[in-house]
Parts: sequence; C-alpha cells; structure tokens
Amino acid sequence: MFELNIKKLNKTAQILFYKQNKDTMIYVTRRERFSSAHRLFRQDWDDEKNLSIFGNCSHPNWHGHNYVLWVTIKGKVNPETGFVVNLKELSKIIHEQVISKVDHRNLNLDVDFLQGKIISTETLAVAIWNQLEASVRQIGAELHKIKIEETENNYIEYFGE
Ligand code: NI
Repeated sequence: MFELNIKKLNKTAQILFYKQNKDTMIYVTRRERFSSAHRLFRQDWDDEKNLSIFGNCSHPNWHGHNYVLWVTIKGKVNPETGFVVNLKELSKIIHEQVISKVDHRNLNLDVDFLQGKIISTETLAVAIWNQLEASVRQIGAELHKIKIEETENNYIEYFGE
C-alpha cells in the first residue's frame, strides 16, 4: 500500500516536472563583487567644471568603490540536470571576462573594454553586458539583466535595450 502511494506520487512529480521543463522560463542571478579605482571626468573640462558636474567621483587623484554586480540570465530547465545553466560555468565566465580585468584595477587606465569611456556605473553596466552576452549564449542561456551597485544607495540596471 505504502509502496503504491510512493509510485503514484513519483508519477505525479514526473508529470509536473515535465510540464515545468517545457513551458517555464527561469531567471537565474549570480552575484559577484569587485573593488576598483576610478575617476569621473572629461579631459576637455577643467578640474573645477568636472567637480561641479561629477561631484566627489571627480577628485583628480582617484578613489575607489566596492562594486556589487548581479548577472541575471534566463533559459529553460535542462531536463537532464534540472539546471538552466551550471552556476559554476556562469561564475567562471564572469570571472574570466569581467572580474579578473576590473578587480583591484583602475577602471580608467587598466581595463581594455573600458578604454576611452567615461567610467560611470551606466557605462560599466553596458560594457559588462557586451563582455558577457556571447559567452552566456554559448552555455545555453540568454543574458537578461546586468545590475551594478556602486554605493548602497544607488544601483543601475541594464536589460540590453
Ligand atoms: Ni566614484
């Protein structure tokens, strides 16, 4: 009797799981952190004008932030694994394409994919999206959102539009 009930339960679970695989879009987010120096400024403006527009982030001798990055991908569940993607693989991509290039670096001077840009959080979000988009597709998902927090009072979101 007990065995029969378990069998019944398993069959119901299998049917539910099958439906979920077929129809359900899942969003998965990985959080990473990095610490970097930057300065917000335009070369064609003097220090006074830069400070008046960009504020504290424009002090000439650099400063740092502890950034928090959330990478959200979307996809369907792989019935073989129960995962959308293997989070280890996603983390590896983020580290190779982004964290290893920005952590403990000067974002204005040291980062190939930020050369010539004004280093705002907005710029960072778009540039990080461009770094990750193709690699995320290679592991069978789509990039959905890049969220970056520069200070705990503000965050930026970019959806690739
Ligand atoms: Ni700043």
